[in-house]
Amino acid sequence: MLIGAAPQITEDALPVWGVDCDDDLICRAVADETHDVRSFHFATDRPCRFRFEPGQFLTLELMIDGQAVFRCYTISSPPTRPETLSITSKRVRGGTVSNWLHDHVRPGVRLRASGPSGTFVLPRAPDAKLLFLSGGSGITPLASMLRTLFDRAWDRDVVFVHSARSPGDIIFRGELALMARRLPRLRVAHVTESTTGEPGWPGLVGRLDARMLGLLAPDLLERKVFCCGPAPYMTGVRSLLDQAGFDRSRYHEESFSFEALPDAVLEEVTEAEAIAEATFSVTFAKSGKTVACPPGTTVLAAAKAAGLRLPSSCTRGVCGTCKSRMLSGRVTMQHGGGIRPREIDQGMVLICCSRPLEDLVIDR
Ligand SMILES: Cc1cc2nc3c(=O)[nH]c(=O)nc-3n(C[C@H](O)[C@H](O)[C@H](O)COP(=O)(O)OP(=O)(O)OC[C@H]3O[C@@H](n4cnc5c(N)ncnc54)[C@H](O)[C@@H]3O)c2cc1C
Ligand code: FES
Repeated sequence: MLIGAAPQITEDALPVWGVDCDDDLICRAVADETHDVRSFHFATDRPCRFRFEPGQFLTLELMIDGQAVFRCYTISSPPTRPETLSITSKRVRGGTVSNWLHDHVRPGVRLRASGPSGTFVLPRAPDAKLLFLSGGSGITPLASMLRTLFDRAWDRDVVFVHSARSPGDIIFRGELALMARRLPRLRVAHVTESTTGEPGWPGLVGRLDARMLGLLAPDLLERKVFCCGPAPYMTGVRSLLDQAGFDRSRYHEESFSFEALPDAVLEEVTEAEAIAEATFSVTFAKSGKTVACPPGTTVLAAAKAAGLRLPSSCTRGVCGTCKSRMLSGRVTMQHGGGIRPREIDQGMVLICCSRPLEDLVIDR
C-alpha cells in the first residue's frame, strides 16, 4: 500500500469569484458599524477566492417588489482576506436598496452581484506619503486600502482624516484606532460637525478647513491624496487643495454618484469605441419599437433619443443596470466590468456601451 501526502488545494488554485465562478454571495455575518451603517460579510457556496484591488466596488443585482434594481457598493474588506468580501452600507432615508439591505439581509441570505469594477484603487506600489480624506460612508474604499496596507505591514506614512456628523457617526472608529496603535506611521484624525452624544470629544469640531488640514498634514504637498465622500465634501477638499497649491495630478477621488463623473471621461470612452461607420436599426422586441442607431452612437443613447425609457445608471459599462439580451446582431462593447464573460457568452450586452456592427434585436 502506498502512503503519500494528500493532494493540497492551495489558495491560488481556487477559482476566482467574478471570473471563474459567478456564484451568489451568501451573507455570513452582519455587523452594526454605527446607528445607521452596517457591514455585510459574504462568502460563496463553493470555495472561491475574491480577487480585487483595494478601492474597487461591486454591483448588487436585486429584485425588490418585483423590480430589478442595481446599486454599486465599495468592497470595504481588503483583498488580503480573499475568502470573504464585505460591503458597508449607510441607510439612506427613502432609499430603496440601502433600506432593503438593512431590513432583509441576514446570515444565509443570497445576493446576486457582479464586479469587481472601478479604477479608484491603491497602486500596487503606493507612494511613501499618503493622505486619505473621507466623509461619511465615503470611508469604505479608503478603509479597504488602509486594511490592505495594515495586513501587508507596508511601512507608509499615512494621514487618515475622516469627517462625520458627530462622534457617534464615525464608521470603523475602533478599528482605525487599533490600526493606528499598531502602525507607527499611521495617524488617524476625525473631524465632526458636532459633539452630540460625546461632550468630552477630543477631536476637531467643524468642517475640514485649511487650518485643520495644515495642522494634520503640514507636509501636504509631499503626499498623494485619495478622497471619497459626498459631492459637497469633495468640492470643498478640491478647493482646499487648490488654495494650498497642491498638484492635482497627485489627487484621486471617487464619487458615489455616477452623475458626478466629468464629461471628459465619457467623451473619451465614446470616441475610443466609435468604430462602426454606418447607421443600423435596433429593434426592441418587447416594446416592438425600432430606432435608428447612427455611427458611434450607443444602443442606449439611440433608444433615449427616440424617446424610449430603458433602465440605466452609470452609462459607462460599470454598474450592469442596462444589461439586456441581444436576440440577433453583433455589437462592439467596451465595458468597465459590469458584465461577466459568461453572460457575454450567453448573449447579454450592456447597451450603454454597445454600438451596433449590424442591425440588432434587443429583448427589451
Ligand atoms: C461606485 C460607488 C460606490 C458606492 N459605495 C457605497 C458604499 O460603500 N456604501 C454606501 O452606503 N453607499 C455606496 N454607494 C451608494 C449606493 O450605490 C447607493 O446609491 C446608496 O446606498 C443609496 O441607494 P438607495 O437605493 O438606498 O437609494 P435610492 O433609492 O437610489 O435613493 C437615493 C435618494 O434619492 C431619493 N429618491 C429616490 N427616489 C426618488 C424620487 N422618485 N423622488 C425624489 N427623491 C427620490 C431617496 O429618498 C434617497 O434620498 C456607492 C455608489 C457608487 C456609484
Ligand atoms: S448603465 Fe451602467 S452598465 Fe450600462
